Amino acid sequence: MANSSSSGDKIIILDFGSQYTQVIARRVRECRVYSEILPYRTKASTLRAARPKGIILSGGPASVYARKAPKVDKAIYELGIPILGICYGMQLVAHDLGGTVERSNQREYGPGKLEADRKAQLFHKLPSTLTVWNSHGDKITKLPKGFRALGKTENSPHAVIGDTKRDIYGLQFHPEVAHTPKGKIILENFVHRICGCRSLWTMGSFIDLTCAQIRTQVGEGRVILGLSGGVDSSVAAALIHQAIGDQLTCIFVDNGLLRAREREAVEKLFRDHFHIRMITVDAAKRFLTKLRGVTDPEQKRKIIGNEFIKVFEAAARDLKKSTPGHHRFLAQGTLYPDVIESVSISGNPAALIKSHHNVGGLPERMKFELVEPLRQLFKDEVREVGAELGLPKEVVQRQPFPGPGLAVRVLGDITPEKLRMVREADSIVIEEMKASNWYYKVWQSFAVLLPVQSVGVMGDERTYENTVALRIVESRDGMTANWVRVPYDILAKISTRIINEVDGVNRVCYDISSKPPATIEWE
Ligand code: XMP
Repeated sequence: MANSSSSGDKIIILDFGSQYTQVIARRVRECRVYSEILPYRTKASTLRAARPKGIILSGGPASVYARKAPKVDKAIYELGIPILGICYGMQLVAHDLGGTVERSNQREYGPGKLEADRKAQLFHKLPSTLTVWNSHGDKITKLPKGFRALGKTENSPHAVIGDTKRDIYGLQFHPEVAHTPKGKIILENFVHRICGCRSLWTMGSFIDLTCAQIRTQVGEGRVILGLSGGVDSSVAAALIHQAIGDQLTCIFVDNGLLRAREREAVEKLFRDHFHIRMITVDAAKRFLTKLRGVTDPEQKRKIIGNEFIKVFEAAARDLKKSTPGHHRFLAQGTLYPDVIESVSISGNPAALIKSHHNVGGLPERMKFELVEPLRQLFKDEVREVGAELGLPKEVVQRQPFPGPGLAVRVLGDITPEKLRMVREADSIVIEEMKASNWYYKVWQSFAVLLPVQSVGVMGDERTYENTVALRIVESRDGMTANWVRVPYDILAKISTRIINEVDGVNRVCYDISSKPPATIEWE
């Protein structure tokens, strides 16, 4: 791997297919140590050449005694490099080194209490009783030679094992998940105390390394990126631009469903400030024509998704014609949770609640090779990378905005007049949330235009006008959400301003539903 040695010490994680492998990598990054995930079957000679200071064997869905169980090259145990097996990784260590692993009568799933041997390096500075998260069906019934138990739970006398001479350890539980509250310290003890890694890795090192990888992947080729102005595509654009400069062109589609001044802000930042090649496609008319008279939310989403692909394809084709070079790459700001979600989506009915708008269909249709430099990161890490690259707070800390834009915030059919009302109301919400320092504290805060008119009075005049609903929610990941108890004063200010300033609106309501059962967006 390109210049990883310049970032100092490294941990290699051998992946056995656990859903948590990337979380382990993240925890190692939190120790400010570089980590690399490699397939479980990586040869010991390759590992030796990579010179890691430690190896972590991830969990995985298999049983070590299954016929096709994934196995490591046993020579890794002779490398003299500290090893930590987690869950399946631990059972493999025990199995490979001469212990016995058996199916347990009871699958252990959920929280457990660990009694830890506090003298063990792994538990340095930790209390003797720890809450841990279990998820396994097998257990170790006989330890390999040289190993002893370093921790036990109610169901297992061998919840933690170790050969302290060879520095090979195993944890039956998952230290990487939040449900093991002190798990991070256990991993820190492994990485720093046992492997001796220093804290040299920073987001700056991530940027250097990723830029080198992008250059290697792309060579002299040209990359196209669909820029939405959201956090992920913005950070991806800035990062790829840092790596390959003018070989990158961003395509920004103005679908007529954007917020006030959004297009100008994106152009100003990327074209004028970062000097990134950028094409804006003015497709507002096209989208609004297609959407005319459509009231069904799913249909709106489908129309917008399809139209986006068509517009993007046409822009990419034009670009190929007008710019020489090999246009072979499509960049996307895919993050790790997107990767996981698209995997778990198969068979998951939750995915059918709303069809999310993305460029998923593009790579296959246009025979692009993907460039996805953020694929291993979590959202907060992407924000850190963005800040490091010099993107302003308004971009890196921006609230999520749905791909179909204001179309799903105008309930019922969409007209330019309704878009104007929701756009103006939205601006007021953003302004007031920022002014009161609430904007960055919540997950999302926005206005929805309802297809409801009601009677009001302005001066001495009777009015019969539209209703705006305010939606302000807090959430960790958008999967569940709570409505926020913002101070009444702020609600009052927003409501007064919307009614006074937005022509056509005479009533504002506050949405006090949580998700589930309501969703965050109204459509
Ligand atoms: P819901 O409405 O499903 O939204 O509770 C959860 C989160 O996802 C955002 N959202 C979208 N994001 N494309 C996106 O990129 C979409 O089509 C889309 N629909 C909803 C929503 O704003 C919230 O943060």
